[in-house]
Amino acid sequence: MLWPPFGLKITSGPLALSPVCDADFPELVALAQAGIHAPDEMPFYFPWTAGTAHEVQMRLMQYHWAQRAAMSPASWSLETAVRFDGELVGCQSISTKDYLVTKTGETGSWLGMKYHGRGIGTAMRQTMCAFMFDHLDAEELSSGAFADNPASLAVSRKVGYRENGVFRLKRRDGEMAVNQKLVLTSETLNRPKDDLKVEGVPQLRAFLGLT
Ligand SMILES: CC(C)(COP(=O)(O)OP(=O)(O)OC[C@H]1O[C@@H](n2cnc3c(N)ncnc32)[C@H](O)[C@@H]1OP(=O)(O)O)[C@@H](O)C(=O)NCCC(=O)NCCS
Repeated sequence: MLWPPFGLKITSGPLALSPVCDADFPELVALAQAGIHAPDEMPFYFPWTAGTAHEVQMRLMQYHWAQRAAMSPASWSLETAVRFDGELVGCQSISTKDYLVTKTGETGSWLGMKYHGRGIGTAMRQTMCAFMFDHLDAEELSSGAFADNPASLAVSRKVGYRENGVFRLKRRDGEMAVNQKLVLTSETLNRPKDDLKVEGVPQLRAFLGLT
């Protein structure tokens, strides 16, 4: 495998997570253009879903290329495409800096709106967190959600995160939004219903400097 992260595949029952590759873009772009949240809401730190279909398409691809191109042991973001029963439903990520020292990272996720409310968001976050603790030596994981994002906060609660303070951020132009920070350890993780199966971990560990 020329790009070691591409060898990774994490499965848990009907869920499969694999690093976003260019072949995923047609489906991922269509999913994002069909809507990830109501138009008046903004769950993301950077409002990449606001704008025309063309803007969403370009931002999505450029974001993923940029994250992939910048991966190194010092700083990385593992962006995975999530499939449920083989169907692409959204993305689950983990981002970190100085991981070899900090052993922590921040989870982020989204699903196409038609897949909301079926427990998939909880299962994919549980799967990524279990993977990080079991296979990449994580000691703690974090998340953050705006106070007006009850679905994300409910997922965090169900996965086992505890609240870890709030802070004020600029969200859209001229808009202050309160962000709730959350933290999780392996002791409090509510593990996924189905055991994890993984492929490509030794190559990924070596690539990230985890020897
Ligand atoms: C956040 C997200 C990934 C959650 O995925 P999901 O599959 O819908 O989540 P689940 O079905 O596993 O769980 C959702 C929980 O939120 C709860 N919830 C949803 N909307 C709610 C609301 N308006 N008020 C209170 N609770 C709400 C549901 O009841 C459920 O909890 P329960 O199982 O205890 O009843 C999805 O909603 C999403 O993609 N949102 C847009 C992007 C986003 O917000 N990303 C996270 C940025 S921090």
